[in-house]
Amino acid sequence: MSENLNWWKEGVFYQIYPRSFYDSNNDGIGDLPGVTQKLDYLKWLGIEGLWLSPFFESPMDDFGYDITDYLNVDPIFGTLNDFDVMMAKSNELGLKIILDLVPNHTSYKHPWFQESRSSRDNPKADWYIWRDAKPDGSPPNNWCAISSIKKIGSAWAWDETRKQYFLASFSPVQPDVNWRNPEVKAAIMDVLRFWLDRGVYGFRIDMIDYLSKDAEFRDEPSSTLEAKDYISTAVYHLNQVETLQYVHEMRQVMDQYPARVTIGETAYHHPLEQLLKFTEHGLDMPFNFRFTIAPLTKAFLESFVKTYDTTFGTKAQPNYSFANHDVLRATRLGDPGARLAAMLLLTLRGTPFIYYGEELGMENVDVPPERRQDPFVSYESGGTRDPNRTPMQWTPGPFAGFSTTEPWLPLGLNYATINVEVEKQNPNSMLMLYKRLIDFRQSHPAMRQGHMTVLDFMGDVYGYTRTVNDDQVLVLLNLGDVEETVDLPDGEWSLQISTLHAQADTAVLSPLPLQAHEGVVLLKKS
Ligand code: GLC
Ligand code: CA
Repeated sequence: MSENLNWWKEGVFYQIYPRSFYDSNNDGIGDLPGVTQKLDYLKWLGIEGLWLSPFFESPMDDFGYDITDYLNVDPIFGTLNDFDVMMAKSNELGLKIILDLVPNHTSYKHPWFQESRSSRDNPKADWYIWRDAKPDGSPPNNWCAISSIKKIGSAWAWDETRKQYFLASFSPVQPDVNWRNPEVKAAIMDVLRFWLDRGVYGFRIDMIDYLSKDAEFRDEPSSTLEAKDYISTAVYHLNQVETLQYVHEMRQVMDQYPARVTIGETAYHHPLEQLLKFTEHGLDMPFNFRFTIAPLTKAFLESFVKTYDTTFGTKAQPNYSFANHDVLRATRLGDPGARLAAMLLLTLRGTPFIYYGEELGMENVDVPPERRQDPFVSYESGGTRDPNRTPMQWTPGPFAGFSTTEPWLPLGLNYATINVEVEKQNPNSMLMLYKRLIDFRQSHPAMRQGHMTVLDFMGDVYGYTRTVNDDQVLVLLNLGDVEETVDLPDGEWSLQISTLHAQADTAVLSPLPLQAHEGVVLLKKS
């Protein structure tokens, strides 16, 4: 069977935060054998690409985004053998796994950093970014760390042994490696090869804007801005042209393997031209984070979607996501809002990314202070990231079927109804809405390959068609609080999916009434 080289453009991605997916050995923390056991569920749901957040050896100061060994599985998550078993099962099912590559920084406990900090002249002395203090003892420049909502901290941390500062752009426990050192770059490229050789289909690349820094370490002109603006407008600390060269070199490694994909964590507010620079240098998809930070209104959709589809989307593959491990879940939009989000995500032209539990409508859990885990404040959500990282809800039973013991983060209070087992039985559940949307996407070429035309509708209705050959689909979303009536374009239309009820495949007439916050997918009779 020939492989579909466009799998990452047509298929649906699902992000797993391994700590929170399924706990196979009942220590309260999700693990790789747990993922393996749940692959059948993802196959049932219709997923094609799986992105796993880090499971590499780590002291877990940032729950795996602080790595001490890129080439091994942390014992809390299992072993390399468990990884291989997971790969084999996913291949059997036709699921393609991509990993999280964290190339900008390691843990301060990584042996590379331990050696680097031991003296000014050891073999790895230059593997990290070391600078002398200013004469008054202050940090070498005004660059800021971003693990805080406001830029309250310097990006420089002091080291007593070397009597120098090291750069740590995210947090002091995550020192930045020095990409200008060819040995460092080669070591990271070896990491890519190691996992590609083990069968992974690509990488989500963490903090990709940051790889290269100004060689002269000049002060940022804009360091009084808030974090989001700092990241998009920085001219010395990040956003350097050398980074694009590194992206290109990573692409060359990836191209030794067929149809591998790279997705980049670029700044949430980057202008589209900045995102296109990455794709021109071989990054397949810089994440489009707009939907994670904007309100779901007609005004927002009108201002963003068409421009994104025509400016960015004619040159590179568009992509959409409403949530991830750093930002709040889509239920922040309320239940009808989260349903509209699901419909948009799975019908807009582009690759959809579903964060685990979104398909259930999991809530953002109010974690009491004594149970909080995230040591960092999220610069986007304005608080801890714990609320959106709670355990996946599988059953109405003890601990939501995630584990047989108290999980590392508390469960959502509503898990008795919001869980896979119960929702599978209820055609009106969020899960079954996701399933219908994904099934429809899989069976209609217009959804996987069709172009998109945004149409004009009155009131709070937003809509677009997706078309390929004779296959035409019309999506209508009422984003307002009152019922609207919509004049349908010419042709005979049938209702395929509504966000509000499970009724399907019924002919509809124009003008079509749409309830408040209702979204529908209509199919044209050919
Ligand atoms: C990225 C990750 C985030 C992590 C940070 C530092 O933003 O998504 O979870 O804390 O990088 O690696
Ligand atoms: Ca476990």
